[in-house]
Amino acid sequence: MELTINGKTQQLDDAKLGEGNMPLLWVLRDVMNMTGTKFGCGVAACGACTVRVDGQAVRSCVTPVSAVVGKSVQTIEGLGADKLHAVQQSWIAEQVPQCGYCQSGMLMAAASLLESTPEPTDAQIDAAMSNICRCGTYQRVRAGIHRAAKALAAGGDGAAKALKGVPA
Ligand code: FES
Ligand code: FES
Repeated sequence: MELTINGKTQQLDDAKLGEGNMPLLWVLRDVMNMTGTKFGCGVAACGACTVRVDGQAVRSCVTPVSAVVGKSVQTIEGLGADKLHAVQQSWIAEQVPQCGYCQSGMLMAAASLLESTPEPTDAQIDAAMSNICRCGTYQRVRAGIHRAAKALAAGGDGAAKALKGVPA
């Protein structure tokens, strides 16, 4: 089976992937040793396992690996591979995480939201971010998304200032 993960295409043995039935989450974590994507509920309820498939946020615990053949999968390991993504920088600036367990899924969902909705309202953030955080970081997640949206809209030096909270 040929998979493209974080820009790299590789062949994996079908037998190791349950002939394509293994959830993508377990392929990432157990076959590829990419443990940034987390297991929470296993039933598409919490969002801890969120990755992006062709740019869309997807719950990898309920996605059979065969469903992503020929598609581009991005995990948290690939989101800031060259330079931290705006959401990662804004998460640091807003000190969003508490324990951190849910946060890779939050970041992947936030990055997808900002591509489809570059300046989301609080209501749009709440509707899109169905991920669960047991530490209750929801207010800071919102703040992080707003900061990243401003930075992406400003671009260049303006982005750097927005990410640091410096008025443009
Ligand atoms: S582990 Fe996938 S949604 Fe909870
Ligand atoms: S930061 Fe702890 S579960 Fe979200």
